[in-house]
Amino acid sequence: MLLLCLLLFPIISAQEEGYSFVSKEIRTPLDHFSFSKNNTFLLRYMVNDTFYKPNGPIFFYTGGNENLEVFAQDSGFIFEIAPQFDALIVFAEHRYYGDSLPFGLFSPPEYMGYLSSIQVLADFADLITFLQKNLRHVWR
Ligand SMILES: *[C@@H]1O[C@H](CO)[C@@H](O)[C@H](O)[C@H]1NC(C)=O
Ligand SMILES: *[C@@H]1O[C@H](CO)[C@@H](O)[C@H](O)[C@H]1NC(C)=O
Repeated sequence: MLLLCLLLFPIISAQEEGYSFVSKEIRTPLDHFSFSKNNTFLLRYMVNDTFYKPNGPIFFYTGGNENLEVFAQDSGFIFEIAPQFDALIVFAEHRYYGDSLPFGLFSPPEYMGYLSSIQVLADFADLITFLQKNLRHVWR
């Protein structure tokens, strides 16, 4: 038990320091594979541009089945390597989690079909396309 506490301590204290971001949202279609794309929702993403230099890459980290802050605060490696690459750091939230809720906290069962990995990947593709087009001014 003591050993476990000792092992966990560095992790916990690293988390307490916290990484900082600017929180943003992008409007994306609820159904990326339908002809009618007028049903949309706001997908949250977080950006840290401190290490970014023009022509640097985007380090794009996808959230999973959890609030986005959990992934952003647990992924120190991204912050360690970003300065060497002049990278823009972007964390994107998984739909139906955290603040990216198309139908609020409790989605009616008939809308749960939009919670699929293919739709989630399409959300991320949409966001990456947007970031690449607007790299200079999206996060300011
Ligand atoms: C980005 O992260 C670095 C390292 O944690 C931090 O010093 C900086 O303030 C952050 N920048 C923004 C815009 O939050
Ligand atoms: C989407 O567009 C169709 C056709 O214009 C309209 O009937 C429908 O109400 C729209 N849906 C939303 C959510 O705006």
